[in-house]
Amino acid sequence: MRIYLAPMEGITTYLFRNAFDKFYGGIDCYYTPFIANRHMIQKERYEADPAHNEGLRVVPQVLTNDIDAFVSLSEQFAALGYDEVNLNLGCPSGTVVSKRKGSGMLYDPEKLDDFLTLAFKRIPLPISVKTRIGIRELSEWDEILSVYKKHPIKELIIHPRLQKQFYRESPDLASYVKATKELDIPLCYNGDIYDTDSMKRILEAAPDTQAVMLGRGLLRNPELPMILLGKKDADAPRDMDRFLAFHEEIVSEYKKIMPGEVQLLHRMKELLNYLVYYISNHPEDDIKKIRKAKSLPEYMSAVRIVARNQ
Ligand SMILES: Cc1cc2nc3c(=O)[nH]c(=O)nc-3n(C[C@H](O)[C@H](O)[C@H](O)COP(=O)(O)O)c2cc1C
Repeated sequence: MRIYLAPMEGITTYLFRNAFDKFYGGIDCYYTPFIANRHMIQKERYEADPAHNEGLRVVPQVLTNDIDAFVSLSEQFAALGYDEVNLNLGCPSGTVVSKRKGSGMLYDPEKLDDFLTLAFKRIPLPISVKTRIGIRELSEWDEILSVYKKHPIKELIIHPRLQKQFYRESPDLASYVKATKELDIPLCYNGDIYDTDSMKRILEAAPDTQAVMLGRGLLRNPELPMILLGKKDADAPRDMDRFLAFHEEIVSEYKKIMPGEVQLLHRMKELLNYLVYYISNHPEDDIKKIRKAKSLPEYMSAVRIVARNQ
């Protein structure tokens, strides 16, 4: 089983990826959060900079519906030494979808087909795709699948929810299973893997699954890859020393690149919305204590107190 870390804008940045690899590991492939600008802005250049991704397998992800921008970004990634580019056809955000980008590209399968035809003709790198299964109705998936069938996609990462669901309700496992039966390309499952039980449900439905992508589940429990790989018992005590060292590394690395404490605090509190589940038995209450912190020392102390009180 291969395990990938999901791209998460503002969260799985290169600093997070490096710290994760140092303290936990178990990830076969990392994806950058989406890169949307043909002339990459600073934070996008930082994500793609090979010096920031040394020793990790990283695939840069692109969010665009402009074929020239996709080709240009892919050429830039090829020149930097990357051997794959990923196309985002999953982002459900209203502002993205209204511009017919991300999952918005699933509105018009014919147009998507033309886009992929040009992409495979012009792009010098293998292309993988991260997709949802439609916009409003599960029935849309059939036509979208018939488009994917036509193209030499290196790997199709499927998050089996509709755009309109955002992250609500459960992923539709049946749509994923349908893809495993109909497509001949390598597939990766993504969505709501939080523990061994959720993993088991996927493997029962689709026993040939070779790769899964973890997002929020890994953030709630950074040991999840080790647990899924059988390297750590799910009931074993949590390792707070390791967690605090991991957390401190992220803070100290962000400190080097973020101009002000306010911005850094905001970034870390956002991350703690997820990580708090690892350090607390009462995450809803404890996150409030952490959010109250007005300075970095106050924040660090709140995190340490919550972790040590578990
Ligand atoms: C805060 C946040 C940011 C995300 N950013 C991206 C992104 O940049 N690119 C992308 O393809 N998906 C993005 N996603 C979606 C995740 O990659 C993933 O598909 C989703 O969280 C479902 O997987 P999970 O249930 O394991 O979290 C984001 C999700 C969240 C919650």
